Amino acid sequence: MLSHPLGDGFELRSLEPWHHREFADFLDRARDFISPWLPWAKIVTGEEAAKKWLYDRAFKRVEDAFHMYGIWQGERLVGGVVFRIFDTADKVCEIGAWLSPEVTGRGLMTKSCVHMIDWAVHERGMNRVEWRCEPANVASRAVAQRLGMRLDGTLRQAYVNTAGDFVDAEVWSILADEWKRR
Ligand SMILES: CC(C)(COP(=O)(O)OP(=O)(O)OC[C@H]1O[C@@H](n2cnc3c(N)ncnc32)[C@H](O)[C@@H]1OP(=O)(O)O)[C@@H](O)C(=O)NCCC(=O)NCCS
Repeated sequence: MLSHPLGDGFELRSLEPWHHREFADFLDRARDFISPWLPWAKIVTGEEAAKKWLYDRAFKRVEDAFHMYGIWQGERLVGGVVFRIFDTADKVCEIGAWLSPEVTGRGLMTKSCVHMIDWAVHERGMNRVEWRCEPANVASRAVAQRLGMRLDGTLRQAYVNTAGDFVDAEVWSILADEWKRR
C-alpha cells in the first residue's frame, strides 16, 4: 500500500523517518489533545526527538513487528495509525491511533482502521486484532465499537498515564472469522 484514499482529499500513506519535520509539526498541533491518552506525545518534542521516534519504529517495521501509516491531507500530517504489536507467530496484532483535533468527527480513523485490518487479516493472515484504551477514552472505545470489536475485559491499573497515575486498560478485539463475516 503506497496510498489509500479516505475521501475529501485525505489519504492513508506511509509515515517514514524522513517525515520528521511533518511529524514534529503534527505533534505541536495535536500534543494537548492526544497526550492525555498517549504519554509519548508529551515527551517527543522537536525535530530531533521526532526523527529518533520514527527511526526506532522503522527498525521494528523491518523486523515485521510494527507497521505505521500517516493520515495525510496533501503534505500536512493529520494523524497516524499503527500496528503497535504485530506478532506473526501467534497471529495477533494491536492497533493504535491518533488524530489532530481539527479532523476528528469525519470517520477518518474508522476508515483507516478498516483498511489496516483488511490488510492484516486478508494479506497477512492475522487471526486476532486488538484495540486497547482507557475506559474514560470515549472517542477511542467508540472506534473499537464502530469496527465491530467486542470488549474482552479490563486490565486493572495496566498503564501509568501522563499524570503519573495507574490507569485501567480495556481490551477490545475482533477475530479473523468475525471480520470476514462483518
Ligand atoms: C481516538 C480518535 C482517533 C477517534 O477519532 P474520531 O474522529 O472520533 O474517530 P473517526 O475518525 O473514526 O470519526 C468518527 C466520527 O465521525 C463520524 N463519521 C462521519 N462519517 C463517518 C464515516 N464514513 N465512518 C465512520 N464515522 C463517520 C462518526 O459518526 C463519529 O462521529 P461522533 O464522534 O460524533 O460519533 C481521536 O479521538 C484521538 O486521536 N484521540 C486522542 C488520541 C487517542 O485517544 N488515541 C487512542 C488511544 S487508545
